[in-house]
Amino acid sequence: MPESPIRYFVTCARGLEGVVATELEDPRIGAASVEEGSSGVYFTGTLATGYRANLWLRSGVRVLAEHARANVRGPEELYAWARALPWTKLLRAEQTFSVEARVWDSAVTHSKYAALRIKDALCDAFRDKTGARPDVDVHRADLPLFLYLFKDQATLYRDMSGVTLHKRGYRDALHKSSLNECVAAAALQITGWHGQHALLDPMCGSGTFGIEAALIALNRAPGLARERWPFEGWPDFDANAWREAKEEARTAARESLDAPIFLNDVHRGAVGLARKDAAAAGVERFIEFSNCDVADYVPPAVPGTVITNPPWGERLKSEDPSEPWRKLGRFLKDRCRPSTAWIFSGNAELTRHLGMKADRRYPVMLGKTDCRLLKYEIHARA
Ligand SMILES: C[S@@+](CC[C@H](N)C(=O)[O-])C[C@H]1O[C@@H](n2cnc3c(N)ncnc32)[C@H](O)[C@@H]1O
Repeated sequence: MPESPIRYFVTCARGLEGVVATELEDPRIGAASVEEGSSGVYFTGTLATGYRANLWLRSGVRVLAEHARANVRGPEELYAWARALPWTKLLRAEQTFSVEARVWDSAVTHSKYAALRIKDALCDAFRDKTGARPDVDVHRADLPLFLYLFKDQATLYRDMSGVTLHKRGYRDALHKSSLNECVAAAALQITGWHGQHALLDPMCGSGTFGIEAALIALNRAPGLARERWPFEGWPDFDANAWREAKEEARTAARESLDAPIFLNDVHRGAVGLARKDAAAAGVERFIEFSNCDVADYVPPAVPGTVITNPPWGERLKSEDPSEPWRKLGRFLKDRCRPSTAWIFSGNAELTRHLGMKADRRYPVMLGKTDCRLLKYEIHARA
């Protein structure tokens, strides 16, 4: 009998739903009924589709597989519904679970309280049936659960990813101003760059754009480097489908790039970190690193695509925060003709100091910060 389709939801930063939808529709994942929501995208597919989404998604944050859905008005209905679910088919008493919840416009008004009611329901149902209950582990649960409660419509998901997908496995220490890997990969996909010409990040920090760019151009599945996936311990785990998905991903990877990637930063420590992370990602040999003020930097070749996010948050007291932006504007106009520059900014006031008018603007929410990916066509001199 054919497997009935599973409904999935992939979470992402607001503004990136279109990029995630395009990734899901790609044959490498092959999702069906892809539909953009708010801060996420719905799709349907088999277990194998879910596995491929976890392996291949670059811009998605978590892949959630729907487990149950109901209309619930208030905490007691939520508890009663959750308590009646067949938990012992999903989990053993010696395993662990966690519950996260998001609640809007519902009779249950607090996310933490909704999560607590689900936890109590699961434990009570287990105790009734087996005399024992699983423990909670918020970091490495065997069964991470996610509840969405919107206008009293509850959807309970099993979180296949566990740890969010931006943690690719190549970065242990977080550079305080590192761009989130999922956002960097989404921005790169918006640019249309896939390795066809040289790419430069002249203010690279820990090198997220360069590393993600190399992974895209090499067609490496970002999830291949991860060691642990919660779904590997689930009762419906399809080991053959998972092995096949990983094998396909390994075979699809390319060995070399057609064009170089240049990364530069004024801070030696940042370049060291970028080099270390690139080595951990196995892409160091495809990147040319340099350590220089953008005002003095001459790229080894004119790059077709420039992508960067200059500093906008952390203000060094001794520095004029507009200075890097002015230097970047001069650098683009003096040394990057012709190219397309893409600037990721969370500060419209500072962006003005580039002294250039954007040709296009793509809004992205980074946490509570309203950001823009800005496109500038830098034409050859007439
Ligand atoms: C927001 S961070 C970039 C973060 C980076 N995208 C990442 O993912 O790690 C901005 C970077 O600009 C660099 N920077 C600031 N002024 C610079 C200049 N004049 N020349 C080159 N780099 C500069 C800083 O050292 C910092 O690493």
